Amino acid sequence: MSNSDKEALLVTGGAGFIGSNFIHYLLREHPDWRLVNLDKLTYAGNLESLAAVQHDPRYTFVHGDVADRELVDALFARYHFDLVAHLAAESHVDRSILDPAPFLETNVKGTQVLLEAARQYGVVKFLQVSTDEVYGSLGLADPPFTEESPLAPNSPYSASKAAADLLGRAYFVTFGVPVVTIRCGNNYGPYQHPEKFIPTVILNALEDKPVPVYGDGLNVRDWVHVEDHCRALDLALQKGQPGEVYNIGANNERTNLDTVKTILRLLGKPETLIKFVQDRPGHDRRYAINPAKLMAELGWQPQVSFDSGLAGTIEWYMAHRDWWERIISGEYLEYARRWYGGVVG
Ligand code: NAD
Ligand code: DAU
Repeated sequence: MSNSDKEALLVTGGAGFIGSNFIHYLLREHPDWRLVNLDKLTYAGNLESLAAVQHDPRYTFVHGDVADRELVDALFARYHFDLVAHLAAESHVDRSILDPAPFLETNVKGTQVLLEAARQYGVVKFLQVSTDEVYGSLGLADPPFTEESPLAPNSPYSASKAAADLLGRAYFVTFGVPVVTIRCGNNYGPYQHPEKFIPTVILNALEDKPVPVYGDGLNVRDWVHVEDHCRALDLALQKGQPGEVYNIGANNERTNLDTVKTILRLLGKPETLIKFVQDRPGHDRRYAINPAKLMAELGWQPQVSFDSGLAGTIEWYMAHRDWWERIISGEYLEYARRWYGGVVG
């Protein structure tokens, strides 16, 4: 563990959507902490999201793979981490349908490599950043997921995350690694990759292109603003009980069609842009999360309403055209070709 009086934190996947928001959040909220960001810079990693902190003396970027045991060992030996926030993952369900293999490598093997290093070197807390998708899908009349809901993942992505969570549980029970698992619903906000739903809707609508809605558009997602997720991750790092799971939800259940219509209205664009496309295989019908445990035990409350969060997110994408235009090229076009057979519109 760290020899200095400052907390040493390893963030994995810090160049991604939630990771970059979390690094900005932590450097703002914890002036004394030292952060190391280990990121492989896959298609989803973007150092431009961290440009504002790249010269901050409290922050170090390491380009590498969480599944690279030698590298991970060397980092633990060198930095003596007190805390680990493990966010690195292959995160997109559609890509896991095209090719599940990288999901097993990063999400399962990568998590095991990190847990093993935490076991060998000792940490105060290991935060396993998981997802509500490990619980599978709800019917419309079902109560929201609690921490006791059975694991029933339906996509290669969610199966790989469930496997990682179970490894975390085993490392806690067998080896005493202080793993805290946190499972959030769909996030939205700045720096989210354009392949995900809300950025897809905003960017296509801004360009007057058709907005692809899978199936009948009545699948329900329970949205959480990324800043509220970051606050929960921070609380879990500081106050979460080892061996425990905490769900995060903000009571923002919306059908995808409702979300699209809201965004079109905020942008002043016509609903005729909506284009129903082929459904995602195995598409989970509904997610809804009961966050009562997180609220009661860690004192978390969501602070961003869906309406204001969505309006702020739209403004952010309108003000950061350079950021997303550079992403929507090259690799992204190739992915869209494989998924849709071409970019919609
Ligand atoms: P993202 O795809 O935007 O970012 C993932 C990051 O991980 C990227 O920077 C990528 O380069 C990095 N990465 C991928 N493989 C790696 C490897 N082998 N080694 C090191 N780095 C690697 O993902 P996100 O949306 O920010 O999600 C972050 C975490 O939160 C994931 O674990 C995801 O399962 C979880 N989560 C996401 C959401 C959501 O709505 N986005 C909701 C709940 C939980
Ligand atoms: O619930 C948490 C999960 O949320 C995270 O674990 C995942 O990492 C994250 O990607 C997200 O998964 P989803 O599959 O729910 O998110 P996505 O943005 O891909 O899709 C949201 C909904 O919108 C889903 O019902 C599919 C639909 N959709 C998506 C896209 C990209 C469309 O209708 N059209 C689209 O173009």
